[in-house]
Amino acid sequence: MIVCVCRRISDREIARHARAGLGFDEIQFELGVATQCGQCEGCARDVVAQCSGTCPTANIKLATNPLEGSPWNPPSPSLQLSPAA
Ligand code: FES
Repeated sequence: MIVCVCRRISDREIARHARAGLGFDEIQFELGVATQCGQCEGCARDVVAQCSGTCPTANIKLATNPLEGSPWNPPSPSLQLSPAA
């Protein structure tokens, strides 16, 4: 769907940039969205917000500490600390 009629920018293009980690201002600078009449700004911001906070891959962090684990990489039982004796 075209979000910005003035610049012919689609929601998919905005979402792709948001998933790459760009914020609205960076996307606006990069694509020119909402830089003419401004009518699309709210919708464009909504697309960025949806993709920045809730995209399943946006917030995946790899565990740097093997004892820490993650939902996708639980800690190995052999690596868990036992209570001090
Ligand atoms: S519709 Fe996006 S600037 Fe006009």
